[in-house]
Amino acid sequence: MVTRPRVYITRRIPQEALHIVARHCDFEVWDRDEPVDPAVLAEKIREVDGLLTLLTDAVTEDLLARARRLRVIAQMAVGYDNIDVEAATRRGIVVTNTPGVLTESTADLAFALLLAAARQLPQAERSLREGRWTTWRPMEFTGQDVHGAVLGIIGLGRIGAAVARRAAGFGMQVIYYSRSRKLDLEAALGCRYVDLPTLLGEADFVSIHCPLTPETHHLIGEPELRRMKPTAVLINTARGAIVDEAALVRALREGWIWAAGLDVYHREPLPADHPLLGLERVVALPHIGSASIRTRTRMACLAAENLVAVLTGQRPPTPVNWTDPAP
Ligand code: NAP
Ligand code: GLV
Repeated sequence: MVTRPRVYITRRIPQEALHIVARHCDFEVWDRDEPVDPAVLAEKIREVDGLLTLLTDAVTEDLLARARRLRVIAQMAVGYDNIDVEAATRRGIVVTNTPGVLTESTADLAFALLLAAARQLPQAERSLREGRWTTWRPMEFTGQDVHGAVLGIIGLGRIGAAVARRAAGFGMQVIYYSRSRKLDLEAALGCRYVDLPTLLGEADFVSIHCPLTPETHHLIGEPELRRMKPTAVLINTARGAIVDEAALVRALREGWIWAAGLDVYHREPLPADHPLLGLERVVALPHIGSASIRTRTRMACLAAENLVAVLTGQRPPTPVNWTDPAP
């Protein structure tokens, strides 16, 4: 009898994705809404061929050292900074992620956050709900104009480019800084490449879309925030640790910048007593960039397809560290 691969799935995911896994593998799910207990994961990793992970799981070298037969880690996210890819590669373990299927939903959210922070939408709504709307006041809840403003994109990849496309509809001028220049996108989107200091000095809105890597950790710290305009708005839907959060709190308190719209944080979940949440000009969301029903389902299905592909000897659709076998 052929034994089926064994898989551990670290959270409840949509049924459509479980069906894909079930056709080829035996699987077990961490059947709770909270992240998998690290001690449980450390036991499970010893006995499985595949893991389906979320960005809340720390897949470290120490954890990987316990694996005996693991062949694939299929992450249900495009970002994979929670996984030690180098350690996985050394052990011959394939890592996969879910690029592309979440691009447009995440760009929608980044733009929603930009509009909300610029025009103080949550603050105004809170005021109405709390019975503080007593009259129309000439300068109450006045914010920054989005139309005609300069948008600076850091990391012109899939999501960055999708945000730039949305900006065109608002008549914004787009400048960008990225690891490499994108001449095709410059021509298609009419955006202009600048270095990071120039972007920070010229942009009315700065939106971060690069991955978290050793190079981008605290890419935006005190010197960078001090370069921004006092009327500027910082949007971060990438990863919290790209911004030095303590410096951001000072920047907002002392008026180096005007507002921030955040979906991601150093420590997630963000504690309710975090200093950022005491600042009136912060719009804070709980890491919901890709959270549409369709997109989260597509992410789970793509993660399942990646997992099954590796376990059935195929090239996965979206690998992070795949090398084709020698002919
Ligand atoms: P992507 O297509 O790989 O785009 C990332 C871009 O960042 C690339 O253009 C890359 O340049 C650039 N980059 C890399 N290192 C850089 C550096 N040191 N300095 C400047 N630019 C750099 O990725 P994506 O699909 O757009 O996703 C981007 C990130 O968004 C993910 O890594 C994830 O952390 C985050 N995300 C968050 C949510 C959420 O729910 N909030 C949802 C989805 C994604 P090259 O083109 O030269 O490689
Ligand atoms: C979400 O943050 C992702 O990286 O997909």
